[in-house]
Amino acid sequence: MQRLTAKRTVHNVSLSLSRRCISSCTSQTYVDAAYDIVKKAGGLFIADEVQSGFARTGDFWGFEAHNVVPDIVTMAKGIGNGFPLGAVVTTPEIAGVLTRRCYFNTFGGNAVAATAGLAVLDVIEKDNLQENASMVGSYLKGRLSQLKEKHEIIGDVRGRGLMLGVELVSDRKLKTPATAETLHIMNQMKELGVLVGKGGHFGNVFRITPPLCFTKEDADYLVETMDYSMSRM
Ligand SMILES: Cc1ncc(COP(=O)(O)O)c(C=O)c1O
Repeated sequence: MQRLTAKRTVHNVSLSLSRRCISSCTSQTYVDAAYDIVKKAGGLFIADEVQSGFARTGDFWGFEAHNVVPDIVTMAKGIGNGFPLGAVVTTPEIAGVLTRRCYFNTFGGNAVAATAGLAVLDVIEKDNLQENASMVGSYLKGRLSQLKEKHEIIGDVRGRGLMLGVELVSDRKLKTPATAETLHIMNQMKELGVLVGKGGHFGNVFRITPPLCFTKEDADYLVETMDYSMSRM
């Protein structure tokens, strides 16, 4: 990382923190070190909140769990709850650079999309979805961690709120990716009505990102389905 930043000029060094928290592991030490190095080199810190923003992690923004202040925050997906909407927030200094460029966007500032975005914010607040993500997410993570005691194939359970990762390995010590098993269990769970995604460099990490209105009962059903599918391996 240090070598990388040393090679770059002040204008093109940036660090983007996004959904790595579940696919691989964004440890606090890594973020602290990377943030310091990039900042010292005059670079920008970009928080990609396309997946982690809008209460998903139990905080409103994913970056809140890391001791950082982003220069740019990108947002989409959760901001419109299915409606096509995206936004970028940055400092006046950085935004000012765009005024020196010719930039246009056919659908920018669309009133219908903006109305959908406002409705999403209302629902998050009225239905206490941030609190729900935190509470149900902790419960689900706890139950998945218990499942790890039962099934050797679960190498790690990580993430925050309703953005969790379950890493499957064929050898816990060597962390050998159980890629084929992950696909098999994912399909078994789909047959039982539970959709989980998969990611990670080796396709061996379940990406669990249910709707923010997910309940404890839903969490129980997910864990029972995963338990059943793993038991039948
Ligand atoms: C974390 C993250 N950032 C950015 C993007 C790109 O978003 P868009 O398709 O709105 O350009 C995605 C899309 O999946 C994403 O998951």
